[in-house]
Amino acid sequence: MTIRKAVIPAAGLGTRFLPATKAVPKEMLPVVDVPAIQYVVEEAVRAGLTDVLMVSGRAKRALEDHFDRAVELEQVLEAKGDAERLAVVRAPSELADLHYVRQGDPKGLGHAVLVAAEHVGNEPFAVLLGDDLIDARDPLLEEMVKIQEREGGSVIALMEVSPEQVSLYGCAAVAGSGDVVQITGLVEKPAVEDAPSNLAVIGRYVLSPTVFEVLRRTPPGRGGEIQLTDALQELVGLEPMHGVVFRGRRYDTGDRLEYLKTVVRLASERDDLGPPLLAWLRDWLPQQ
Ligand code: G1P
Repeated sequence: MTIRKAVIPAAGLGTRFLPATKAVPKEMLPVVDVPAIQYVVEEAVRAGLTDVLMVSGRAKRALEDHFDRAVELEQVLEAKGDAERLAVVRAPSELADLHYVRQGDPKGLGHAVLVAAEHVGNEPFAVLLGDDLIDARDPLLEEMVKIQEREGGSVIALMEVSPEQVSLYGCAAVAGSGDVVQITGLVEKPAVEDAPSNLAVIGRYVLSPTVFEVLRRTPPGRGGEIQLTDALQELVGLEPMHGVVFRGRRYDTGDRLEYLKTVVRLASERDDLGPPLLAWLRDWLPQQ
């Protein structure tokens, strides 16, 4: 079955970025000059997913406006003959078929995915978490979609991390080796000594719709939240689950320091900003 739908949970409170996220969803924070969420939608579209559902929270307006036409702004740019900026302003509204649903009570990532059940229906779908950005040059989701179409079941993106980092992530027990493995178990943010491996779940999933049935009966887990990882642990016993070990470039925007690093890295690779930014950094850093 062809995968067409992507679900992007975007209802987090963004407390790590307060006060910036008091009135603006964290997904709208700029990574250089593009909101983080736009990179994620672009990634879904590159993987062939043209139906995108955002599970949003209280500050849904800014998200909707970003992916909508901005008639007034477009008129001003048109009158000025600024074709370049006009294209940049229009692009998000032409990316995909966007849908929005509110999560209501923020009861965890598993709950956010369950809220998408009606929209998704009985077909496999992708989940993309906005805190993880995957470099456009490293096609992860495309690969995951191909594996799901070949093998069925679900496919989860994994990444090798150092043992002390494992407790920041969902962690997978796996069989086999190489870039595609079989997942035999999952545990959400285990203590270092309980971690079944050093393979962390990163925020890309291609899931079988059976996950909805499981999520409906998944009790709150770690942190009192309905955890997607807990539902996936149960799904492992029911259907095939593969892991793709990602060795490409992933950027974290969910943490302030990692966010800053991401902005500097991506800006330094840009033709317009990179050379002057790097020149300034080289000059400035020795003075620190
Ligand atoms: C979530 C998931 C976790 C996963 C992580 C990836 O955690 O619950 O399993 O490893 O995303 O970014 P969060 O970072 O939202 O706490």
